[in-house]
Amino acid sequence: PTTERVEDLLGRMTLPEKVGQMLQLDARQDLGEIVLEKLAGSILHTSPAKLVEAAELVARTRLRIPLITAEDCIHGHGFWPGATVFPTQLAMAATWDPELVEKVARITAIEAAATGIHWTFSPVLCIARDLRWGRVDETFGEDPYLIGELGAAMIRGYQGGGLTDPTAILATAKHFAGYSETQGGRDASEADISRRKLRSWFLPPFERAAQEGCAVFMLGYQSMDGVPITANKWLLNDVLKDEWGFTGTLVTDWDNVGRMVWEQKVCADYAEAAAAAVKAGNDVVMVTPAFFEGAQEAIRRGLLTENDIDAAVRRILRLKFELGLFENPRTPDAERQRAVIGAPAHTELNLEVARRSLVLLRNDGVLPLPSGGSRRIAVLGPNAHDVSAQLGDWAGNSGQVDWMPDGHPRELTSTVLDGLLKAVPADWEVVHEPGAEIVRLVPDPDGETFPDGQPRPAIAQPIPASPLRLTAATAAAEQADYAVVVVGDTVDLTGEGKSTATLELQGGQIALLDAVAATGTPMIVVLIDSKPHVLPPSALEASAIIQAFNPGMRGGQAIAELLLGLIEPTGRMPISAARHAGQQPIYYNQLRGQHGTRYADLTQDPLFAFGEGLSYTTVVYDGLTIGEPDVPADGVVRATVRLTNTGTRPALETVQVYVSDLVTSVTWAARELKAYRQVSVPAGESVTVELEVPASVCTLVDADGRRVVEAGDFELLVGPDSRPSSLHSAKFRIS
Ligand code: IFM
Repeated sequence: PTTERVEDLLGRMTLPEKVGQMLQLDARQDLGEIVLEKLAGSILHTSPAKLVEAAELVARTRLRIPLITAEDCIHGHGFWPGATVFPTQLAMAATWDPELVEKVARITAIEAAATGIHWTFSPVLCIARDLRWGRVDETFGEDPYLIGELGAAMIRGYQGGGLTDPTAILATAKHFAGYSETQGGRDASEADISRRKLRSWFLPPFERAAQEGCAVFMLGYQSMDGVPITANKWLLNDVLKDEWGFTGTLVTDWDNVGRMVWEQKVCADYAEAAAAAVKAGNDVVMVTPAFFEGAQEAIRRGLLTENDIDAAVRRILRLKFELGLFENPRTPDAERQRAVIGAPAHTELNLEVARRSLVLLRNDGVLPLPSGGSRRIAVLGPNAHDVSAQLGDWAGNSGQVDWMPDGHPRELTSTVLDGLLKAVPADWEVVHEPGAEIVRLVPDPDGETFPDGQPRPAIAQPIPASPLRLTAATAAAEQADYAVVVVGDTVDLTGEGKSTATLELQGGQIALLDAVAATGTPMIVVLIDSKPHVLPPSALEASAIIQAFNPGMRGGQAIAELLLGLIEPTGRMPISAARHAGQQPIYYNQLRGQHGTRYADLTQDPLFAFGEGLSYTTVVYDGLTIGEPDVPADGVVRATVRLTNTGTRPALETVQVYVSDLVTSVTWAARELKAYRQVSVPAGESVTVELEVPASVCTLVDADGRRVVEAGDFELLVGPDSRPSSLHSAKFRIS
């Protein structure tokens, strides 16, 4: 019946109505023009008032085809006042827990659906390989397997019980593909990437998303080998649709079609650009209003046929029918909003995710802080009490949605200062001094516009250390038993188009860390940042370091609980941290080889490795044993390893399983994560963990670009992180 309904409706549509269906326009612009003149089928960045207005306008159109509404609900429905803002994707990835990630997405969908949103542009499945890139926070880190597992979980959570489920929203796998393989970390630059390299590392998480039934794929902005993704038939048709069998919908990124004219200059006008985009298989065209005239002109010129347009419109209408929008346009529901937005159970889950995401990277024994006796804690640093830095990008503070009140409702977010004030024993004293600032926005010194007239964004300029602030912070540290210094970055250094040239802590932060370290008061460094930063010696010599990334609304509470030992540290790094920005890229699964692995003046050893993270106890691995070391190609490698908790506190250990193919027909990674298990190990006890790796995943991509298992000798590497020195090994053979 859906097919019949689609064909019936399509048969009654005029060409302008069909082309309009393909348009997704920005609801912050004139809705009358969007709905009545451009006949748009979809809107994004909307608001309650805009949704009401849009519904009224749709009722005035000839066919009254319901609009599909989309929003960037990236780590929660971040633009909606009071909605639950979770830790960012990068912070969520530090939990390594697909079940938690699925619950986050489920809650996000429930809250977003109540506000009339049908579709989110999430998850990001890009691989973060250059820490200078501004969108590292939006990724699940650097490992294709971990990204695939967590991405699949997120898709399940968003899409719930299927598209007819009124609490489901469409998930979008983005940015397809290779968008993160930037030049110098600069956002959306040309991706210098071969098809084989794409297949080796960048495509697997997307293939997993397609298998999971992800409804939509969004294209990257960049071009590869000179072809903008928007016009890349090989990727969009041959790989995604023909090879993987994807039957869902494609959406471009923001004005991708226009960019082919005004930025990439591979099309002379919008008719050519519309033709290239439609021919490559695009369906929804995000924010290129001129596509409306361009596509019709392309048909007049014979660059496109109406059949080409029909193919895309069919997929869009099918989606609308499958969502049931014709029967129930899923408009905002005030009663449901009251029941679900920021509901206590959602806040509870948010707190749980934040707790699980914190990564303890160094601890000389200062943590957990001892509970007896009265103590004074100095809570210092620009991010100790900054809601916007804590929530991170896509949380409404970034000023990207103009109807959002400035800043998130305060009482919903617990900063580190708030968390400590609440959690410390009654006779403890907590004092606060920011001590430093980070950056301020100033006009780009090269002018307000690029040569082609496009506006040049502002530049984030470091704010130098202020002697007054430093003195106040140092005095507070001197008089305290412990100094908790919360440093990192801000939303001005995070996000689309906001890559950074350096990875060092900006503004007065290094001076602050140096000054506090010089007081001799035990210093605990907490990093609230969008990506791993290069740390100065004073921070590296601190008594403890906690990597929190952007831990969401409950982050401050979770950090306070961790400091006080009310919870255990369980997070593990989903991404490697560098000692110097010049080490980029520093991801763990690089091609093996001794040459080219280091500089004359620096090793290529990461500061913190992928998978790294401490507990408040010690877990010892031993007795790695492979059951049957000769495995057929369709068999499973089974192994056991014993974990012993030698301390006095419980551990949740993430047992990581890497595979090394010892001799390969092509150069390949020394080790790749193929499985992991999270296991509770009570204090003083041993547990034996069973591990499984199907031989079929011990693959590489050969010189012809085919993913194959090459029979021969392999090594199973098991341990608490990806460093060779942390891993126990056992040999097996695939025949
Ligand atoms: O979803 C985003 C995308 O990730 C980057 N460009 C804009 C889109 C819509 O806001």
